[in-house]
Order: sequence, then C-alpha cells, then structure tokens
Amino acid sequence: KKVVLAYSGGLDTSIILKWLQTELDAEVVTFTADLGQGGELEPARAKAELLGIKDIRVVDVREEFVSDFVFPMFRANALYEGLYLLGTSIARPLISKHLVQIAHETGADAIAHGATGKGNDQVRFELSAYALDPDIKVIAPWRDWSFKSRTDLLNFAQDHQIPVPKDKQGEAPFSVDANLLHSSSEGKVLEDPWAEPPEYVHQRTVSPMDAPDEVTEITIEFAKGDPIALNGEKLSPATLFARLNDLGRDNGIGRLDLVENRFVGMKSRGVYETPGGTILLQAHRAIEQITLDRGAGHLKDEIMPRYAELIYNGFWFAPEREMLQALIDKSQEKVEGEVRLKLYKGNVIVTGRRSDQSLYSDALVTFEDDRGAYDQKDAEGFIRLNGLRLRTLAARNRR
Ligand code: ARG
Ligand code: SIN
Repeated sequence: KKVVLAYSGGLDTSIILKWLQTELDAEVVTFTADLGQGGELEPARAKAELLGIKDIRVVDVREEFVSDFVFPMFRANALYEGLYLLGTSIARPLISKHLVQIAHETGADAIAHGATGKGNDQVRFELSAYALDPDIKVIAPWRDWSFKSRTDLLNFAQDHQIPVPKDKQGEAPFSVDANLLHSSSEGKVLEDPWAEPPEYVHQRTVSPMDAPDEVTEITIEFAKGDPIALNGEKLSPATLFARLNDLGRDNGIGRLDLVENRFVGMKSRGVYETPGGTILLQAHRAIEQITLDRGAGHLKDEIMPRYAELIYNGFWFAPEREMLQALIDKSQEKVEGEVRLKLYKGNVIVTGRRSDQSLYSDALVTFEDDRGAYDQKDAEGFIRLNGLRLRTLAARNRR
C-alpha cells in the first residue's frame, strides 16, 4: 500500500517514515511543506532520499498559507481563550489539504502524520482530511506503535540507520512547531506551569529586556481587512508577514506563556512567539475602529470566540466555520486605510489611523462648536426612554 506522510525531516517523522516502511510494508511518499518555519528544506529531501523514498515532495506553500488561511483568520481578530493567536491550529488544515491532494495524484489510499494521541494536532489533521475525502485512511503511528519511551524510539532509529543529531541523543528538550505565523514550544522544561520558561526556549524574538531603547515607527496599509503594504511598500502576503516578523523579533514583540485547554480535555502549557501576528492584530483592530460600524463590529466580536474555537478544534473545513467566515468577510468590505504604530520593547503602540472609508466624524464628536451637527437636547429623551425600565425597577425596590 501507499502512504503520503507529512514529513518535516526531523527525527520523529524520520522514525515514522521507517516504521511505515518496515512495520506496515508501505510505499511512502513524503510531503514537506515550506510554511516559513525557517531553516533549509533541502536537508529534508536528502534525508528522505537516504531513507529510500522515490517520490519526495517539497512544496513552498508560504503565500497560500498567509493569503488563504492566516489573513482570513486575522479578519476575525481570532484569539483562543483570549490570548492564543492559533499559529499551529491554522496550519494543520493546509497540510491536510496537500496530503489529500497528493494522495489523489499518486493513488495512495492513506495519509500519515506525526502528531501524538494526546494533542490537538491529530484532530485537526484528521478532521480536515475527512472533510476533503470521506474515504481517506489516516495513519497516526504515535497511537499505534509499541514504543514506550524515547529510548525505544532512539533504539529503533539506531537499528535502522536513521541519523540521530547529537542534541537529540538524550531526551528531546521540548516539542516545537513553527511556521510564518508563530513558533510554539511545549513539554519538558515547560511542563511545570509555575517554572519560568528559560530564555533558550524562545526561537524568534529577542527578549523585550534586550530590545533596543529606540522606537521603531511603521505604517501598515489595509484593503478589505488584509494588510497590503508596509511603510508604503506594496508586498505579497508572505513577504509582508515575514517583514512584520523581523520587526517584531527585533523589538521583543509577541511572546506568550499560556496554559490552555486542549480539545481532548487536558490542560497544557505552551510558550508562543507570534511577532508579526501580534503587530497585525493591533493594527487590524485600529483600522476597524474607524471603518466598522458599531453593530457590525460588536457582532463579529461576539462570534469571534466561537470562530477561534472552531479553528482550534480542527473544524476549518466545517460548514459553520465557512458560514462565520462569510459573515466576517462581509464586514471587511470597507476595512481599508492606514495605521501608524510604534514598536518598543515588547509593546505595539498604535499612534494613528486614517481611511477614505472612515466613519469617524470630528464634527459629531468635538467638544468645541459643532455648528449644529448634533443636538445635545436629543440625548435627554434618549436617556429618558433607556432609563424607563430602570426607574420602574428602582420604584419597585423602594416599595
Ligand atoms: N498547543 C498548540 C496548539 O494546539 C500548539 C501545538 C503544537 N505545538 C507543539 N509544540 N508541538 O495549537
Ligand atoms: C502533539 O500532541 O502532537 C502536539 C501537541 C498537540 O497536538 O496539541
């Protein structure tokens, strides 16, 4: 049988690859996605070759990732449990989409992934795959094999000539997932939620304490809710995002230490770094402040936690996520203009916003002479009617 494996080139997925070959007697096709995780992908190709793979697919999906997954999600200002920018959650459906596509191209009947049986990622990979192909088979070796420990895994690697990097020869230090949107670290030194994450856990930001004592000022331009230019320069989605990441990294922006509720039921502690995303969220909210009507803005804020939870739980390709997306996208039609921000020692400080579609009216809001734009007397009846029930209740309380 033939299996398409989501292959990072790392030790764990290399062991999985070998296990599929030796234990399941499968012909393996590897898919390695360039999601902007950083680092070279050619070593992954070389390693797959070394392990006897004939059909090796290394695909640059950065633009697709940012324009079809990250930007739509940012239109919603999505945060899981108030804080998590969903950097891992949003990448999984894209990977599954490609795995299923390659399975169809190559006549494979199964896909395989390296997520454990304890986490969210297995759910996201598999729900996405089933939504795209009801008959696809999914192999999750972490749930199936008989290895009981890291040592078992390393022994298997040794027995099958899988190169084990020096730093991986003991226990794995912690588990990392990275893409253009974020890096996430879980496990090991992070498992005690009281223990401060050591500095070396951080992958892509300087510590705010070490960031320069100087302010970096930037402008971001939006169209239909998506960023299209940085400091006046029009950039592709992935390029713009990478630039925001650089700016965020240098200024110590976007670190998060979070204990979250996994879909499968347990709490887990993670350290996240989302430099560009943290800047983008603030900027997007700033442009919405002047371009979104109150009713529209409050409605999308109400559905946001639901939308974020759907993405976290792996329901990107579910009809309810698509319905909410249609609502969110509709709200963004006039979300355009420019935001100016200062980046400084871990802070993202909005200093201005402007738009041809602005709903902001200084004539209405001014404390100076408004030349008849607004009649303050109108507020009297407005308050009287809004207060009617409250006065009725207060009168009863007095009886
Ligand atoms: N807890 C995060 C999520 O569920 C990240 C999971 C993957 N991260 C990792 N370090 N293995 O989205
Ligand atoms: C994993 O279990 O593979 C990573 C963590 C998660 O999916 O939540």
